[in-house]
Amino acid sequence: MLSQLATELAALSQSRAGFAGIAAPVRLGRIVSCDGLLVEATGLDAPIGTICRAVGKTGADTPAAEVIGFRSGHSLMMMLGDTVQLQPGTLVRPEGHPGMVAVGEAFLGRAIDGAGHAIDGGGAIRSGTFRPLGGKREAALERGSVAEPFDTGIRAVNACLTMGLGQRIGIVAGSGVGKSKLIDMLMQGSDADILVIGLIGERGREVSDFVARHLHDPERRQRTAIVAVPADHAANLRLRGAQHAVALAEYFRAQGKRVMLVIDSLTRVAHAAREIAFALGDCAALRGYPASAMGVITKLIERAGISSSSGGAITGIYTVLADGDDHNNPVVDTARAILDGHIVLSREIAQRGQFPAIDIPASLSRVMDDIAAPDHRAFARQLRALIAAHDANRDLLIMGAYSPGSDAQLDRAIAMQGAIRAFLAQDLHETVNMAESCDALAVLMADATAAA
Ligand SMILES: Nc1ncnc2c1ncn2[C@@H]1O[C@H](COP(=O)(O)OP(=O)(O)OP(=O)(O)O)[C@@H](O)[C@H]1O
Ligand SMILES: [Mg+2]
Repeated sequence: MLSQLATELAALSQSRAGFAGIAAPVRLGRIVSCDGLLVEATGLDAPIGTICRAVGKTGADTPAAEVIGFRSGHSLMMMLGDTVQLQPGTLVRPEGHPGMVAVGEAFLGRAIDGAGHAIDGGGAIRSGTFRPLGGKREAALERGSVAEPFDTGIRAVNACLTMGLGQRIGIVAGSGVGKSKLIDMLMQGSDADILVIGLIGERGREVSDFVARHLHDPERRQRTAIVAVPADHAANLRLRGAQHAVALAEYFRAQGKRVMLVIDSLTRVAHAAREIAFALGDCAALRGYPASAMGVITKLIERAGISSSSGGAITGIYTVLADGDDHNNPVVDTARAILDGHIVLSREIAQRGQFPAIDIPASLSRVMDDIAAPDHRAFARQLRALIAAHDANRDLLIMGAYSPGSDAQLDRAIAMQGAIRAFLAQDLHETVNMAESCDALAVLMADATAAA
């Protein structure tokens, strides 16, 4: 036993010497407790964020855990897989670069899981560049302001909810209303140098479909990196997956690239953060969520934006599940407060077969006023008012209780209803650029004026 330990220590000292330039001995830990989620080890001096692996076991299924905290000298770790091979006294050794993840061009055209391993059937991804998993805290002035439009390729968004380069926006909807399909449209039509996608907590089948679909197209493949952690993976892997996606986006932004970062879904990241916080003994404070879970998603969102020093930008798009179509749950609230806008998808619109099912009056892009031309803004405001007028009087119209001629705005809204719906709908494989969207909006509003 002792000789095995000595060999292990010698090997580790050598491997570490290559990384930090110091041949410091590595301390092994010993597992003293495991209660399913949380594993406690003594003797480790590894910082939070370090991955530890059981000593003496080899292969991809070697039990591994991430240090998520410490208490009374014991390191608290969360398993990255399951606990089947663990036993009291199992030795664990810290590995890799604590709190850092590999990033770089090698990730383009590839799909990885929460532990950074390839899941696309290709070989191992090798990269000598690392970035902090939790991001670097940057000076407030490092964030440039959003000044340029971001072309999403979606007519309704370009025209009515114009997004800006470096903006952070949420796609808020109940389940099955079309969030993921809208992401597909953005992947295909948006004007970005690099696409980084974090699929967190999705169904396994959707993950494989997504990877196949988006890495199939040769042009898109060379500028796309996917991090996918399905729902049945451990909570800390789901959180690491999201953070790894952001770290990759940050790497490309530092190269001056315009990156589109998508996290589908932010709610599932919040669920993962909640599971970790509960395992550490936090209590629920905010309608079922510990305060720290909201802190995690706030930090994740804040990492997107424009970098003044490199000139690059991360335009962040986060899907938010409004459970049971409740738009007031804590994740929706937090996201809405810190994001620079939200696109609300409506089940009612989806049910009548209009896709993307964007509820224009309920949605908002906070940067639109700063980036859109004055007449574009005016047309968008008019369109919003027409849709709102029709929505507010829908019951009257269904009952036939409205007599035409009583309200000029409503008459115009009724006359334009078909044209407005056709304008907002867009085929899944169609791309409409910013100039075409603005022209179509101008034509639509000219027709509305004529209909008056
Ligand atoms: N643009 C679209 N064109 C045609 N059908 C669509 C479109 N968007 C959504 N749908 C329909 O709605 C279904 C659900 O869409 P999607 O998977 O994108 O929803 P979701 O909001 O991501 O769901 P979940 O919350 O379960 O992840 C699709 O299977 C499809 O039938
Ligand atoms: Mg989805």
